[in-house]
Amino acid sequence: MHSARLMQPLVWVLVLVALAGCKPLDDAMVSVFGRSMRDQRSFDPYENTRPAPINSVAFSAGNYPAADGEVNIGQPEGVFVPPFTQLDLGTPGEGAAVIQGMVNPTTPTDAASLARGEEIYMRFCVVCHGPDGVGTNAYIAQQHLVLPAYNLSGDVVAAYSDQYIYAMIRVGRGLMPEYGSRISHFDRWHVVNYVRQLQAQAGN
Ligand code: HEC
Repeated sequence: MHSARLMQPLVWVLVLVALAGCKPLDDAMVSVFGRSMRDQRSFDPYENTRPAPINSVAFSAGNYPAADGEVNIGQPEGVFVPPFTQLDLGTPGEGAAVIQGMVNPTTPTDAASLARGEEIYMRFCVVCHGPDGVGTNAYIAQQHLVLPAYNLSGDVVAAYSDQYIYAMIRVGRGLMPEYGSRISHFDRWHVVNYVRQLQAQAGN
């Protein structure tokens, strides 16, 4: 009887601690040390703890540094691509001299290039621009946004240079994100060739 009366408050304390978890203890730690085990610096399994260098192209894009110790800043497969930004895009279809000076290294009608271009287009562009480049079937068009106005297979984009479309894929424009960090140099040209094929199929 005597010991049972002693035990009762202890049981209640245990129940309270169990219900509250370790929070009161943690809070006491915070008041002393300024932090607790709850605020630990753990990171997600797939989190990259260091940001990629500016203009770098991901390994997943099939892009590797040319030599040991070199940082690749967008010259995949050992090709030099002049640096430029969205500001250099200028008037649609024109672009700065640095952009217009680039030469398409692929054969635009080559079947392998078009197949690769289609693969990349279906991976990256189709969600917004639609399978035929018009965007009407695409998710964003269903939200009644502006994409049908940016019809990749229409006469407006058909009048743009290869270089301008390549540059847009690399640095983005306005609401369109940049894909330079995900689509490597040659793949960008393959996509340009594929967009040209979509235009030809649409009669432009
Ligand atoms: C997240 C949605 C989205 C994706 C994905 C996307 N785009 Fe775009 N794209 C846009 C938007 C929005 C615009 C209009 C940009 C603007 O406001 O200037 C646009 C515009 C364009 C234009 C210019 C059209 C014009 O009439 O001036 C081209 C060319 C283009 N995109 C090509 C591509 C290619 C090639 C891909 C795949 C590598 C791609 N886009 C992926 C959203 C997207």
